[in-house]
This record gives sequence, structure tokens and C-alpha cells, in this order.
Amino acid sequence: MDLFKKSGSSFLSGEDVSRELGISRQALWKHIEKLREVGYMIEAVPHLGYKLIQVPDKMLASEIKWNLKTKVIGTEIHFYESLGSTNTVAYELAEQGAREGAVVIADEQTKGKGRLGRSWISPAEGGIYLSCILRPDILPNEVSKIALVAAVGAVKAVRKFSSLDALIKWPNDILISDRKAAGILTELKGESDRVDFIILGIGINVNTPRKALPAGGTSLKEESKSSADFSRVELVKILLKELEAEYVKFKTNGFAAVRSELKSYSCALGRYVSVTASGGTKLSGEAVDINENGELVLKLDDGSRKAFLSGDVTLVR
Ligand code: BTN
Repeated sequence: MDLFKKSGSSFLSGEDVSRELGISRQALWKHIEKLREVGYMIEAVPHLGYKLIQVPDKMLASEIKWNLKTKVIGTEIHFYESLGSTNTVAYELAEQGAREGAVVIADEQTKGKGRLGRSWISPAEGGIYLSCILRPDILPNEVSKIALVAAVGAVKAVRKFSSLDALIKWPNDILISDRKAAGILTELKGESDRVDFIILGIGINVNTPRKALPAGGTSLKEESKSSADFSRVELVKILLKELEAEYVKFKTNGFAAVRSELKSYSCALGRYVSVTASGGTKLSGEAVDINENGELVLKLDDGSRKAFLSGDVTLVR
């Protein structure tokens, strides 16, 4: 495939390719047939050879890895056409010792998991569904910071890729025009004083039509009013790069290195919001800060301040 991509729009002669790959013309033909089966459009013209017409927008590991300039995240990619949840598969791989940065990605999830026991609608070829194994040297109570760091990576990736004004709704939803376009679910294995691994699951609605999404959901295609589908492979590459950049900042210089950007992309700060804490209590007030622990700080109606480490935010006004 690399040979085809390097050749751009010109034909590659069968003879040259066979020679370069050290395989027979018949073996090359079989290879081309296999590529066509997974969705590559390759033109074959007698005497001229082969030309790559179109690459499928499938999350094929080979496509994601092509020109991917990350050092850790995405260096190992496990692609599935369809599975229950990439988080579940990544968790199993991590338990078997898969390395930091290994990524599980699927074209479709049949049991996509959301935060707070919700499900994540994951139709075939509509979005990006990926989970990354991380093994940071942090304490379990710092795991929520990883999700915030990932939200910064994800919002930057969406902005670079689509030019849409994506924002973070604390803790880690990505909104466009107040509608949810992406979400993050972290799962942890560890003991009270140690993190074994974290599964960082990210779902982005890329081309999914709004009618297939839950109320309040949207996709990049819907928001950009574009008639053409976005390339999910291109977005995944940008996402992996941005995630790595933010993760490295966090590992080297701590949460403080990411916090100011997190605040600058936050849509809750300065707004009146309601936070439902994990126990079910709901409090309302003006969101005034995301503090050095990653907590959302509300100024309540009585003027007192309350910090939340986790919870679900509703933007009131
Ligand atoms: C949320 O509720 O906002 C979090 C959604 C997280 C969805 C992603 S899709 C890839 C990964 N696998 C899952 O089952 N969930 C996460």
C-alpha cells in the first residue's frame, strides 16, 4: 500500500511492484484482490499497471499508521470491524500485559459504554470509537485528571480537523453549539495506592446523522452542514497526536501544564450550571474555576464555594 501511496496518481507497473516486493505477478494479483475486498479501489489497466483510486474510510490499522507521527500512543493498533465495547477489549488486552499506548479501535460498537452507566450509540462508520491503554505513574485519585487532559487533546483535534468551535463541558464532554459531539470514559485497574492501567475510551460522532443520536447529541458533519463525509482516519491520526502531546505535557510537568488550556476551552466557566454529584445531590451555581485538582468550583447562590471532583453538568444559562 505504501508503494501505491508514494506513487500518487500515477500507474505502477505490475512488473515493478512484483520486483520491489519480491513476489510473483500472480501473488501480487491476489494481494490486490484482497485489498479490493477490504474496500480499496484499485484500477488495473493492461500494459499500464495498477493505480490507487480510493482508500476506504475504515479504521484499518495500516491506514491509521501511515505517516502517524506519534511515539507511544497508537504505536500498537488493534482494529475490529465490530465489537461490543473497545474499552472492554482494551481492558482485557491490558490485563494480558499490552503496552502503554496500545489502541483498540472499531468501526462499530454493539455495546458502547458511556459515563454513569449510559450507553454510547456507535453505528458502523459513523464515528470514532477508540480506547487507549495508559500506564501512568500516578495515584488512583489523580485518574480524573487524565480524562481532563484527554479532553484537551480531543477538543484540539476536533478544532484542527474541522475548524468547528468545539468546547469542553467539564469533566470531559466535547460540545459544539451546546450539543454533545464526543465523550470520554476512563476505566481504571489498580489498588488504593497504585494504578495498574487506565483505559481511556473516546467516542466522537463524526458522520453520524443527528436522528441516530440521543437528544442533545450532534456530529461534526451535522455541525459543519457539510454534505460530504469527513475522513475518520484523518481525524484519528490528529487525535492520537494531540492526545500524546497533552499526555506528555501532563507526565512531564503535571496537571498545571494543561490546566490553563483546559480552562480556556471550557464552556461551563462563567455560566450558571447544575452539577449532579455521584451520590445524586444536585447543586446549582456559577461555574467559576477548574482548580489544581481538576475539580469544578461552583459559586452557590448563598455565595459559598463548592468543588466537585466528578459529576454531571447541565448548562442552565
Ligand atoms: C460519555 O458518556 O460521554 C462517554 C462516552 C465514551 C464512548 C467511548 S466510544 C469508545 C469507548 N468504548 C466504549 O464502550 N466507550 C468509549
